[in-house]
Amino acid sequence: MHQFLSDNTNERTDRYGGSLDNRVRFAVEVAAAVSDEIGADRTGLRISPGNPYNDIAESDTAQLYPALLRALSPLGLAYLHVLHAGDDALLGTLRTLWPTTLILNRAGTDLPTRAKDIDHGTADLVSVGALALANPDLVERLRSDAPLNTPDPATFYGGGVAGYTDYPTYTV
Ligand SMILES: Cc1cc2nc3c(=O)[nH]c(=O)nc-3n(C[C@H](O)[C@H](O)[C@H](O)COP(=O)(O)O)c2cc1C
Repeated sequence: MHQFLSDNTNERTDRYGGSLDNRVRFAVEVAAAVSDEIGADRTGLRISPGNPYNDIAESDTAQLYPALLRALSPLGLAYLHVLHAGDDALLGTLRTLWPTTLILNRAGTDLPTRAKDIDHGTADLVSVGALALANPDLVERLRSDAPLNTPDPATFYGGGVAGYTDYPTYTV
């Protein structure tokens, strides 16, 4: 979906390429189709505005993502999940535009920093990626204030079990 959204990857000349309305169309149609199948209350969308991963380079995030959210809003999805790459002004706009639950992934920050987003009302929920991967018992560890395993970036995108299913659970 991100390849449809981004103007440096979307080279289409049909109704899925070119204008903002056209570039958001695929994501909105997918969300609507999934929602029709399983219910809007069980459907969410993850977006990553400004994330340059895999050579994505958006020139118009300030227009693109508001256009996407305006088109998605009538669907009444359960949540929007935002990977926050650092554009606070855009995040504020998205928060204002999104009518239901907003989950924020403030990438690479520590947990107290993430918690502030709930305290400040920037998000309804916050998410963690790498820490959840590295700690199969993350919830129990957080509840009991146990130490956390450190994620190993060297095994993040490997093809085997290393770094996926072999992080230890906490033992006293
Ligand atoms: C092994 C691994 C796989 C990931 N796969 C995806 C993915 O498929 N789609 C996505 O949007 N983000 C993916 N991410 C990014 C995470 O969702 C998250 O945004 C990123 O790890 C930064 O947040 P964190 O500091 O909470 O980990 C992945 C991250 C890791 C470490």
